Amino acid sequence: MAKETIGTILYTQEDIWRRAEELGKQITEDYKGKKLLLVGTLRGAVMWMADMMRNIDTDMEIDFISASSYGAGTVSSGKVNIKLDVELEVEGKHVLIIEDIIDSGNTLKFLKDYFGERKAASVKICTMLDKPSRRTADVYGDYIGYTVDDLFIVGYGLDFDQKYRNLPYITYLEG
Ligand code: IMP
Ligand code: MG
Repeated sequence: MAKETIGTILYTQEDIWRRAEELGKQITEDYKGKKLLLVGTLRGAVMWMADMMRNIDTDMEIDFISASSYGAGTVSSGKVNIKLDVELEVEGKHVLIIEDIIDSGNTLKFLKDYFGERKAASVKICTMLDKPSRRTADVYGDYIGYTVDDLFIVGYGLDFDQKYRNLPYITYLEG
């Protein structure tokens, strides 16, 4: 198989840090006095999770969840399952899901319902990237880093076949 080609840089680490700081201030305000549970989605959101944690200045807990609707390709299968669950108690807490990218929205629709069933006080979404052109599920980001076109994004946690997660910037696959 031919090696895929990487496009130009869409967002640098500094671009991402700037947005994380802005959103972090807003979230700090919005969650004052509330029991906040930050839930990062593995593995794509690891870098963004670390950025957001540093920029939210209120008492909080953090945990991770791994859910997937993807096979090896670049198209969502629509079916979501939990591969690794949160460990902390969810009931009565304000859950803020820290996500890498909202594409079809299937994964987040599932996760929002899931935390709702577990009696979270509220469930909101903070996503690094939003790709609204491909949305099929009725779900939206409450806090959005950047909105991107219909491209296959890699870098800053996002992968293609587990590659490119370590790139310190956001780019896309050409072709
Ligand atoms: P959704 O359920 O279709 O919204 O997509 C869920 C997950 O698929 C995201 O959280 C990503 O981990 C992955 N994904 C969606 N679009 C892209 C992309 O452009 N590049 C890499 N991963 C993606
Ligand atoms: Mg993800």
